[in-house]
Amino acid sequence: MTNTLRASQQGLDKVEKAIHRKRWKRNSITWQQVADTSQGTLKRFWGKTPIKRQSFIRICEAVGVNWEEVAEPSEIQEIKLAVVSVASTTPSLEDQINVLPLQPTDGYSKNQRGVWIPNLRCRKVWGRESFSEEVLHRLNDPQEAPILSLCGSAGYGKTEVACKVALAAVRNNLFADVLWVKARDTEFSDGKISQSERDEALSWNQLLQEIAHQLDGCSVKRVHQRIKEEKRLIVLDNAETAQLEDILPKLNEMLNPSRVLLTSRFQTNASYVGLINIPPLEEHCSYQLLQDEAKYKNVPAIVQADTAQLQQVYHLSCGAPLALHFIVGRVLDDGTLEPVLSALEQASGDVEKIYEFSLKTAWQRISDVTKKVLGYMGDSDAGVTWEELSGTKQVQESDWSITRRELRRWYLMEDETDAKGKPRYNLHPWVRRSLRGGLVDKWQLSLQEWEQIAQWKYDID
Ligand SMILES: Nc1ncnc2c1ncn2[C@@H]1O[C@H](COP(=O)(O)OP(=O)(O)O)[C@@H](O)[C@H]1O
Ligand SMILES: [Mg+2]
Repeated sequence: MTNTLRASQQGLDKVEKAIHRKRWKRNSITWQQVADTSQGTLKRFWGKTPIKRQSFIRICEAVGVNWEEVAEPSEIQEIKLAVVSVASTTPSLEDQINVLPLQPTDGYSKNQRGVWIPNLRCRKVWGRESFSEEVLHRLNDPQEAPILSLCGSAGYGKTEVACKVALAAVRNNLFADVLWVKARDTEFSDGKISQSERDEALSWNQLLQEIAHQLDGCSVKRVHQRIKEEKRLIVLDNAETAQLEDILPKLNEMLNPSRVLLTSRFQTNASYVGLINIPPLEEHCSYQLLQDEAKYKNVPAIVQADTAQLQQVYHLSCGAPLALHFIVGRVLDDGTLEPVLSALEQASGDVEKIYEFSLKTAWQRISDVTKKVLGYMGDSDAGVTWEELSGTKQVQESDWSITRRELRRWYLMEDETDAKGKPRYNLHPWVRRSLRGGLVDKWQLSLQEWEQIAQWKYDID
């Protein structure tokens, strides 16, 4: 697999059209930020000069164009997939989601529909077509409870499915608009919430204020009326970190025709809340995810993996996309698949253990600067910007690109853009919870112990 790619004239024509739709210029700063690239690289891209494969792919993805249609065909080495990829069977939702950008680009208009829906954090949502359709169908069915709770363990893709559903809800004109409220980003362990955590959980008043803000900044008193007058979809993401006993009955009074979609690790028992459990990713979709990520990150050990190995990865991951991503990161660093599989085998069957194993390895291999940045991000409730990291002296400009690369390499950081299209860096709630819960301190200690042992050995030599 080559490490560089260059654009063809035909490909550039496609990109030209795409940037025209987004009203970006050829050297747009927003484009550079979203693609995490520099002006020089973008210039070389336009000049059909070879640039790094990952930069090339990010540049294309930032404008929603398939990189394989942009690259010079002779440069794309066709990779024989160990498993025949299964074409998406139900393109309807996927197509509708990918056609037009709903997110504002350079210009920011509060009145644009769907503006509060966060961007997808993965490069492509594999599978989930029929499941998303089912969720959307239930949300739109007048016979169903007005609140639908999408439940499941961390990392199974609840938030991504909710994004897909929300986009389709607007695109299909099933809902006038979507409001999206993220309850506290942290998730609680074991279903138990301590008193101090309960105090910090999103309250009814905070929720109302956020909704009022998203309704063009109307007053809190008008929220009830606004929700009643038009059919809106309100998504409450990470709902287990909200004061649901208080919120749900009050929300319920406002609904019809509007609806609520919760994403939650826990189930809620109330007559007006319907439940839908997120299933594991289907096996063939997990192969597609693995091989696509492996192609993107240049991980031959996975690209060339045979079906038996892919099956093993799938079973270890329990079909959780977060686990699949972590495994790609680990194999990328190890350069080989088998030892990683044997190491992960110890945690077999328990997805949280797989996460823990992955984070532990990552933590022990990343630089001190990256650890410091991770610690800072773990303490923030939402994503951080580069300005914040730099302003609070977490990282110097010269180190930032290495740190960012390390965090992406291990899938520890999620790229987001805020409602104005500005890049933000966030952590998956599971990673944040682990950092806050002191999981990494345990490993830090064992590293210190290891150093003591090394010192002791050195002394006796
Ligand atoms: N179907 C999918 N295909 C590819 N990546 C996915 C898919 N679903 C989720 N992901 C990625 O896996 C990670 C966990 O997904 P997320 O939606 O945050 O899970 P949850 O909300 O259940 O904790 C995220 O990085 C997300 O981008
Ligand atoms: Mg989530």
